[in-house]
Amino acid sequence: MTADAMRLVFAANWKMHLGPSDTRAFMRAFLTHYARRPDRRVIFFPPALSLTTLVDALRDRPDIEPGVQNIHWEDKGAFTGESSAPMARDAGAKVVLVGHSERRHVFGETDDETAKKMAAAVRAGLVPMLCVGEKIEEREAGQTQAVVVRQLRAGTSVIEPHAIAGILVAYEPVWAIGTGKTATPEDASATHQVIRHELTVLVGDKAAAIPILYGGSVNQGNAQALLAAAEVNGLLVGGASLDPEGWSTIVRT
Ligand code: 13P
Repeated sequence: MTADAMRLVFAANWKMHLGPSDTRAFMRAFLTHYARRPDRRVIFFPPALSLTTLVDALRDRPDIEPGVQNIHWEDKGAFTGESSAPMARDAGAKVVLVGHSERRHVFGETDDETAKKMAAAVRAGLVPMLCVGEKIEEREAGQTQAVVVRQLRAGTSVIEPHAIAGILVAYEPVWAIGTGKTATPEDASATHQVIRHELTVLVGDKAAAIPILYGGSVNQGNAQALLAAAEVNGLLVGGASLDPEGWSTIVRT
């Protein structure tokens, strides 16, 4: 396992919150609460319009990685309203969320589109964080593993093994997102072990260094127990990442 894989990953997905002014204020506060730590990897996914403000605020903090929440799979073209991976890279993003549950289930993104976005990210030199997770009806039908494995295989189907070895994976059960219902550490761990196994099938020993994050109603009260579960290498947090003090408390967990 590499030193990198030993670092816990804390990723803030702001969704459609915090425009440029709020981003500036947030980062001013957050940076006073979070000094660089070599055992932590911290990533922010602001709205696209706030990315350059975030990048600017992090000029003296190269330890914190800016990201974007979504990209189009084409590099450029007549796609009104979309942003491409090369543009995100040019604006300072290093990481990109691909296949987030809201992209899949609110905007109807398919496995095939997710795969093309993974390829676009890799082409542009962005690190993709591939999000997977089952809906409540799939969980109740005992399909959690099958769904997660399907999404993982689809998302990695068009990138080379060396690129797969460089991704991050986030397991976010759809029923736990924004609902206050969290998977138990045991449930999260069980699915993370399935993901690790599948990654091992894809890239062998290198799978051990791929961070697998848990997401879904993570907060200050449950972060520690989730991080203590086997194969949970970090957290992807929505609501609880919107307050700089609260988020810094989670990052320092
Ligand atoms: P919440 O933490 O608000 O449940 O959101 C989780 C999520 O979707 C992060 O990507």
